[in-house]
Amino acid sequence: MIKLTVNAAETFPILILPFFESENLQVLLNSISEQIGFEQKELYADFKAKAKETAIGMTRTQQKVYFLGLGNGKNPSEVSKVFRSFFNANKDKFKNDISVFLHNSQLGKVAADIAQGIFLGEYQIAKLKTAQKDLISIYESRSTINFQSDRDLQKLLERGRALAETQMKIMTWVDAPANYKTPQMVAAWIQESGKENGFEVEVFDEKACDEMGLKALLAVGRGSIDNPASFVVMKYTHPEAQKTVGLIGKGVTFDTGGVSLKPGDNMNYMKSDMGGAAAVSGTIEMAAKLKLKVNIVVAVPLTENCIDGKAVKPGDVIGSYSGKTIEVINTDAEGRLILADALAYVKKNHQPDVMIDLATLTGNCIQALGYAAAALLSNNDDLADSISKAGLETGEKVWRMPLWDDYKDMMKSDVADIKNLSTAPLAGAITAAKFLEEFIDGHTNWAHLDIAGVAFGDSEYGSMKSSTGFGVKLLVEWLETNL
Ligand code: BES
Ligand code: MN
Ligand code: ZN
Repeated sequence: MIKLTVNAAETFPILILPFFESENLQVLLNSISEQIGFEQKELYADFKAKAKETAIGMTRTQQKVYFLGLGNGKNPSEVSKVFRSFFNANKDKFKNDISVFLHNSQLGKVAADIAQGIFLGEYQIAKLKTAQKDLISIYESRSTINFQSDRDLQKLLERGRALAETQMKIMTWVDAPANYKTPQMVAAWIQESGKENGFEVEVFDEKACDEMGLKALLAVGRGSIDNPASFVVMKYTHPEAQKTVGLIGKGVTFDTGGVSLKPGDNMNYMKSDMGGAAAVSGTIEMAAKLKLKVNIVVAVPLTENCIDGKAVKPGDVIGSYSGKTIEVINTDAEGRLILADALAYVKKNHQPDVMIDLATLTGNCIQALGYAAAALLSNNDDLADSISKAGLETGEKVWRMPLWDDYKDMMKSDVADIKNLSTAPLAGAITAAKFLEEFIDGHTNWAHLDIAGVAFGDSEYGSMKSSTGFGVKLLVEWLETNL
């Protein structure tokens, strides 16, 4: 395991010098170069410190120096991203001790982000390749990374590492193929995390779900005879907690669409349809690691959405935990069905002060916001504002959409209490949230985050999309500033 130290005087054979863009950058470069004995001025003559820009050279004492651009400092997720891709690209070259020179206070402030990025650089998605590489990278070595700084940064650095480790764990879950993450396997992973980090986990199997009356979850699960649905409830408590937060995450381990089958192109990406469940599980893990003064109850309904003779058919009317009947117009709108049960369950059994659900819920959310932000829908302005703010702080951005009753009639069914899909092909992210609102039983402090566009994305980890780990940093920031 890499050791993190903070020592202004100690410096190692590899030296990383991060810089934000600034007007007097060349002056700064000159003065730092003088300080460290770097004489090859021409090597940084064109260096602008744009995000991910690098310049490389040697000091008089044969120290290898990397100048690393961090961009203009306006995007809060940039620093971590720059370090992540820099370490990811160089991990096999970095085998020994490294120094990171935090030469001004602006860099001290982002120490946690730097550590987070450094550790995220280890993440890799090639977990099932058989050829083992024999190169040992810095992550498998017992090297030290020393941060040259006068400030007491140790806590911030360890926090960045802890966040990266939790994020990588849930990224592994989201990137796992569906045949490596049945609902039963995901439930076991969550149990393991609970044991390791000190929170309670209860797993309800199909039979228990049936006894509890989680009818909508079981209806979706009926399409998968061999990998039945499962319902996981996690609890973290702190003796000084003032409030209880309920977190709910969509856990569809693969979404074929069901009988309303999806087209084949890119259907493989639907292994990421449990990104909401991963995010809320990661959040309670971080809350336990950081010993946050709050009570948290997390519920994740886990199921595949597949096709079988017993699968739900379009037009079927199903029951739900709340007692309301639902006409299933389209079996591909399955996320809202399982969330309906989880929301009603958490409200009824735990009466949390706040309820927040995260779900890769609609393609329409991506139509509206693209890949830059999650959609936020809430019946409480203060809650919406505080989540939006946490989004800007962390760079895991959210953008609010309306939850007005103008959209409510679109979900009215002729034959049941509500239908799961509007007949009009518009405002899909909003009407999905209006559907969920029917199952919170009048809770006045609820927010829904549609993370369809942000949970899975392009990155240096591979040529195809992979997990972003979205949600953990956002929710931890929100918990810390609001409770
Ligand atoms: N899991 C999907 C939403 C989704 C789409 C997530 C693309 C990530 C990327 C959800 O279950 C779904 O299938 N939604 C449908 C609803 C449709 C039947 C109205 C959609 O949005 O296309
Ligand atoms: Mn679907
Ligand atoms: Zn889905």
